[in-house]
Amino acid sequence: MKITINNLCLKIANQTILKNLNLSFQQGEVTCIVGPSGSGKSSLLRTLNRIDSNKNYKYSGDVILDNKSIFAKDYSLEQLRKQVGMVFQKPCIFPFSITKNILFGAKHHEKMTAYQAEKLVIDKLKQVALYEEVRDRLDQSALELSIGQQQRLCLARTLAVNPQLLLLDEPTSALDPYSSGALERFVVDFKKQGTVVFVTHNIAQAKRIADHVVFICNGEVIESGSAEKMFSCSTTDQTKQYLNTQTCDC
Ligand SMILES: Nc1ncnc2c1ncn2[C@@H]1O[C@H](COP(=O)(O)OP(=O)(O)OP(=O)(O)O)[C@@H](O)[C@H]1O
Ligand SMILES: [Mg+2]
Repeated sequence: MKITINNLCLKIANQTILKNLNLSFQQGEVTCIVGPSGSGKSSLLRTLNRIDSNKNYKYSGDVILDNKSIFAKDYSLEQLRKQVGMVFQKPCIFPFSITKNILFGAKHHEKMTAYQAEKLVIDKLKQVALYEEVRDRLDQSALELSIGQQQRLCLARTLAVNPQLLLLDEPTSALDPYSSGALERFVVDFKKQGTVVFVTHNIAQAKRIADHVVFICNGEVIESGSAEKMFSCSTTDQTKQYLNTQTCDC
């Protein structure tokens, strides 16, 4: 799946949040979005999944997903949600069991037998390195899980719908190094079947997993390019400063 963003602007209640973004995310690549707090990273991901829109949100420009504008009147949001999986910065757990959480979206999109459902739950929990920790309490409330476990459960629920594009907003912020490593390996592996946009404050992590890097500050793309170029010879002083010190004077 290819995503092209053309002159995208977002204003919320007259405050400019995203300014004239031009970007593309390629099939089979991990793009890491980095930038200071409040720079618009989460707003960009939410825009790509058409969420949080209300009458205070004013968009201009376009986002093209497989040759179709996601803002088109006849664009199916249901289809978008099936193709695009998102894991939010704060885990968003439903007050049901672990099993029900994982099947929530998947059952909405397709019918399955009890056997298929059970297999899906186990497969997805294994994929996010959570199965061993929760295998004895799949029918207990997911709200009892730790934040790091909830974060992995959200990813498992997203994967159960089999998305082609994954939008991950700081998905390892509450994980220990072991689980973070497992998630990073999963993301790199996922490239074989789709596209990943990954927001992180962790530059070392971006170095490990990114094919492409986008540096955003104050709602603007300051620079974007291949990970190799961005980490070894970025062209703007702001990018060099941010990637080296995580501070910026933009
Ligand atoms: N619903 C909203 N209403 C008003 N302002 C908003 C809304 N959502 C985001 N903003 C503003 O948009 C700006 C960008 O926020 P966003 O959450 O996208 O930043 P971020 O780069 O993800 O930051 P962080 O690294 O802290 O998660 C901030 O100034 C924020 O206050
Ligand atoms: Mg954010």
